[in-house]
Amino acid sequence: MIEVLVLYYSRHGALRTMAEHIARGVALVPTAHARLRTVPELDTPIGHIPDEGPIYVDKTDLRECAALALGSPTRFGNMAAPMKAFIDSTSDVWLSGALVDKPAAVFTSTASLHGGQETTLLSMMLPLIHHGMLLVGIPYTEIGLSDTAAGGTPYGASHVAGSNNEKPITETEQQLCISLGRRLAETTARLNSG
Ligand SMILES: Cc1cc2nc3c(=O)[nH]c(=O)nc-3n(C[C@H](O)[C@H](O)[C@H](O)COP(=O)(O)O)c2cc1C
Repeated sequence: MIEVLVLYYSRHGALRTMAEHIARGVALVPTAHARLRTVPELDTPIGHIPDEGPIYVDKTDLRECAALALGSPTRFGNMAAPMKAFIDSTSDVWLSGALVDKPAAVFTSTASLHGGQETTLLSMMLPLIHHGMLLVGIPYTEIGLSDTAAGGTPYGASHVAGSNNEKPITETEQQLCISLGRRLAETTARLNSG
């Protein structure tokens, strides 16, 4: 099986919902399995493992995955600090080349329509390129990309959550999450078939 790591940070739940839809897309590929992981809040004591809730990522997850979907809320046009802190802890993974030539995709959520989705998606791509990953976006053959009145970008999946996180994910945003997950898993399957 191809292991696709779906790694996200979420304070209010939007990114978690998106990660679950991306995992559904991954599962549409029979040879792929989605591993859903999150990163701890910055003030979490090192080594603390909560009794319930999403599982914290370990750097072993990066070494074991065949592909990575990385998701963070937009914070001032950039990824959130807990995700950046985790990425900044991956120098040993970078040195080993464990992520080289593995496909990756990114996703985000904002409060407002023009609140910085593309800049956040691009900022998340930068460390993935340093890791040697191969970026997968969303092509305009996905009709939702042209039709959307909310989130959805060629750089990755996105969602407009509203200023109080009151907006549920739209049908189109959801479909683009699923498409991105499936495209990531299909690309990985093709790369690994030889
Ligand atoms: C410190 C901070 C900065 C934020 N910056 C932005 C921003 O630049 N643009 C925007 O539209 N929303 C911004 N937001 C809102 C979040 O991106 C939005 O609520 C997101 O959907 C939260 O995702 P979550 O539900 O997974 O935590 C910010 C929120 C916080 C707490």
